[in-house]
Amino acid sequence: MESIQAVVNPRLLTKASRLFTGALEGRVIEILQNARRAGATEVHITNKDGIVTVRDNGRGIEDFARLLDLGGSDWDDSLEHSEDPAGVGIFCLAPQEVTIRSNGKLATIAEDGWTGAPVAIQKDPDPVAGTLLEFRDEAWNASAVDRNAVFTGLNVIVDAKESPSLPFVSTQAVAYPELGCRIEVRQSPDLNPWHHSSMRGYWHGNNVLVNFHGQVVTFDYHPVSVHMLHYLVDMTGDPTGIRLMLPARTRLVENDALKLLKDALELEAFRYVERLDHHILPYKEYLRATELGITLPEAKPTFSAGALTVGDPPEPVEVVMPKDFPLGKCYRFKNDLPDGADSDAANVHLLAALGKFDQPFVPVDIRECYNGYSWAKLPVVDKVDVAVGTEIHQEMMWSGTLACVESLTIKVHTSDGRVFSSPVCMAIAPVKAAKAPAWAEDHVLVTPQAQEQLCTSEIWHHLGGWYDDGDTYDTQEFQFQKELDRFWMRLVGPEEHRRRQILSAIEGIKPDWSTIQVTPDGTVHIRFTDGSGRSLMPPTAAVPRAAD
Ligand SMILES: Nc1ncnc2c1ncn2[C@@H]1O[C@H](COP(=O)(O)OP(=O)(O)OP(=O)(O)O)[C@@H](O)[C@H]1O
Ligand SMILES: [Mg+2]
Repeated sequence: MESIQAVVNPRLLTKASRLFTGALEGRVIEILQNARRAGATEVHITNKDGIVTVRDNGRGIEDFARLLDLGGSDWDDSLEHSEDPAGVGIFCLAPQEVTIRSNGKLATIAEDGWTGAPVAIQKDPDPVAGTLLEFRDEAWNASAVDRNAVFTGLNVIVDAKESPSLPFVSTQAVAYPELGCRIEVRQSPDLNPWHHSSMRGYWHGNNVLVNFHGQVVTFDYHPVSVHMLHYLVDMTGDPTGIRLMLPARTRLVENDALKLLKDALELEAFRYVERLDHHILPYKEYLRATELGITLPEAKPTFSAGALTVGDPPEPVEVVMPKDFPLGKCYRFKNDLPDGADSDAANVHLLAALGKFDQPFVPVDIRECYNGYSWAKLPVVDKVDVAVGTEIHQEMMWSGTLACVESLTIKVHTSDGRVFSSPVCMAIAPVKAAKAPAWAEDHVLVTPQAQEQLCTSEIWHHLGGWYDDGDTYDTQEFQFQKELDRFWMRLVGPEEHRRRQILSAIEGIKPDWSTIQVTPDGTVHIRFTDGSGRSLMPPTAAVPRAAD
């Protein structure tokens, strides 16, 4: 019967140098890893004239042949089980010429030595303890070595200076012997700068850091969606099924052990949350904790006052919750009201922000994910009505229309049978204005009082606000302000507008004035209430500008 059989084609040898990216970091990781696997406690790295020398105090190379055996390793069995060596690491130095000295022997692997030419093993005329490698490379300086040495447990000395060495996790870490690791959960501020530097180069959202004896790989996993948890996984050297994907070894293999690791991370996440003073987990995650046998208190009430989410500027008029006002007396706005829910939400918000009541009316926004907690079960706003007085003036403005009406009253009915009603100076028309063009999305109603009571941005918020594909925020706000000024001017008529302009120009004259007279030549005579007077004369000739 014809059969086929897996073999390694020697051609692979000629491509071995391409198993690595060619980045210095990869070489540092591989060479430090070999030293550690050989039982070294100390590694000395020196840079001189472009030649890098790495000397470790490990047990030395027993069988030089293993060095060039692509796929072959010669570490002991326990290491085989815990670290899964692939027998390719030293090829990261190819195609450079490398001299290797250990156990009284010396070999120089030249370029063709990496691809299959025989390499002579000589007697070392000057034997060294441990293993010594010498090759030409860019400088293995502190900035290249430190971050790859810090969590190896080795004492690494670069050009006579010690690299930092830190434990990856604290004594608080929980052992998972069946996975060969210890796990510790931390929030971002509790990570040290070296943890942060291990995340460099990866997608910044990656929040799980797995330390394979100095080489840190990261991935993204969020069994709880809040509190920004990071997970430190420190491989202990016990047998493990957690595997790095070859050849790059920058990711984990998606296998059963990884699934178990994720289960362990989930459990540790909830244990961490259990130790916090309070939590803000969505209700679903709170239930999941219970399933895992962890009884958490209810999440801390998490809400914002008002029915409109306050986010990017311009912000709506602020709804202030009176001090010590209980959440239980607030109302939730149901987002699933059938029609016009958007204008309803805005009107509920505006009623709370601008209305006057005997007892406060405070609508709150609670995210759906908190439904289920006792504090999230509040009476809701059932119905919203806007009573609109006679229209005085209407214009298209920004993304919609702005109309000034004689009066506005917003009234809401709540599910606990109450009615809150108050005159307000701004509301959103529940249906589009009949005269509004199709593109006009928003129809905002104001009363004349709005001019004094509201600031520009509070009206702008309801008329589309800032377009992020347009001019800068300030420029757009300025343009809107100009449109709004013209709106008020047309509303009050030119005479009243001029009167207001004059009043605003003389605002704040001190001491208090009783009369002000302006003559056609531009002179201003001011008489003060204390009987004194002053005249402001126009300049007689062009006044030279002060030097800048
Ligand atoms: N510093 C060292 N001290 C002692 N032996 C070493 C040292 N460096 C390499 N060796 C020997 O050379 C072999 C090949 O090393 P290499 O780095 O290529 O592969 P590996 O470490 O077995 O596997 P990996 O692909 O995971 O690195 C090792 O198995 C080991 O026997
Ligand atoms: Mg190796």
